[in-house]
Amino acid sequence: MNKVTEDMRYLTFALGKGRLANKTLELLEKIGITCEEMKDKDSRKLIFVNEDLKLKFFLAKGPDVPTYVEYGAADIGVVGSDTIMEENRKVYEVLDLGFGKCRMCVCGPASAKELLQHHDMIRVASKYPKIAKDYFYNQKHQTVDIIKLNGSVELGPIVGLSDVIVDIVETGSTLKENGLEVLEEICPLSARMIVNQVSMKMEAERIKEILQALKEEL
Ligand code: PRP
Repeated sequence: MNKVTEDMRYLTFALGKGRLANKTLELLEKIGITCEEMKDKDSRKLIFVNEDLKLKFFLAKGPDVPTYVEYGAADIGVVGSDTIMEENRKVYEVLDLGFGKCRMCVCGPASAKELLQHHDMIRVASKYPKIAKDYFYNQKHQTVDIIKLNGSVELGPIVGLSDVIVDIVETGSTLKENGLEVLEEICPLSARMIVNQVSMKMEAERIKEILQALKEEL
C-alpha cells in the first residue's frame, strides 16, 4: 500500500452488513488491509479505524450503502449488484468481486408459468420494486401490479397476496421448501465495489492502488 502520511485524510469503506461484509474483510486482508477492531463479533460499535493505513470502515444496511457512497460519507462501498440496480445512485461501479453470486428471478408456483406467457395482468411481490418494474414493463412489456414487501417474499404466492415474486435465488432451497420454482431468470448477481464520484478524482492514486491489488487477488 501507498506510503501513509500524517496529513492524509481517511478513506472510508461502507460495507453491507452480513455475509458480504465478512467476505469483503477476508479479501481486503489478503491485500494487506486489516481492521482488527472489526473482528470482535460482540462489539456494537458501528465504525472502525485502522490508524496505520488511515482507513475507516462501517457496516450499514445493504440498501443504504449506495446512499452513503453517493453523498461521500463513504468513499468506497461493497454491496450486491441487486441493491445497486434497485437504488440507482450516482456512484461508479468499479469492480465485480466475484462472491455473493446468485440470480434475480421471477418465481412462483408452476401453475403461474402460464400467466407470464399470456401477458396477463398479474400481481408481483418483491423487495425490489424497481427491478421488477423494469423487467416487466421495459423488457417483457407486461403490465403488472407490483407490491413492495420487506422480506420473506416467498410468502406472497403462498398466502395469496401475489401470483409471482421477483427475488434473489441462491441455492434455491427456500423456493423448494415452499413449493415454488424459478419461472424466469432476470439477471445474475454478485458483490460489487462502488466508489464516490468525487473521491475517484480526489483520491485517485490510493483508490486505484486498492483496485489494482484486488484485481490481482481475484
Ligand atoms: C434471500 C432471498 C430468498 C433467499 C434465497 O432472503 O430473498 O428468500 O435468500 O436463498 P436460497 O435460494 O439459498 O434459499 P434473505 O435470507 O436475505 O431474507 P429475507 O427473506 O428477509 O429477504
